[in-house]
Amino acid sequence: MNKTEKYINLINQVNSLIDNETDFIANLSNIASSIHFTFNFHWTGFYLNNGKELVLGPFQGPIACTRIKYNKGVCGKAFTSAQIINVPDVNEFKGHIACSEHSKSEIVVPVIVDNIVLALIDIDSENYNCFDDTDEHYLAIISKNISKIFKTTEH
Ligand code: SME
Repeated sequence: MNKTEKYINLINQVNSLIDNETDFIANLSNIASSIHFTFNFHWTGFYLNNGKELVLGPFQGPIACTRIKYNKGVCGKAFTSAQIINVPDVNEFKGHIACSEHSKSEIVVPVIVDNIVLALIDIDSENYNCFDDTDEHYLAIISKNISKIFKTTEH
């Protein structure tokens, strides 16, 4: 399967997970796993906006920093800009927070509900230049679908 085909399968899987379960943590946990093992990324997970800062949510991969200030790191930039931040080489990103020495490139995708960034999907790769327009396109769709969880379930 090429990347697009993998994403189409992934989106179907994510939608099916969301449609069949209302528990917020259960859904984010399975979605992290689903994304992670589709592409064998180094780290895939969520940071959640608790109203004061970003706090680690469900993830797959090595342990990661638990709290990130709104204006720090790649996650902070995605949070403050409410835009996807695609970093081809983490060494070139000023202020990058290195949770793992194996991480070489990173993409962070905001999950937005009613104009507020409630969560971030954060993905790290062990390869430089891992993420392209295709990743941005499909991860944005996944993010939109995830935003429905925030509207429909307790969290
Ligand atoms: N690298 C991120 C921190 C989170 S870890 O990648 C899991 C950042 O700079 O915001």
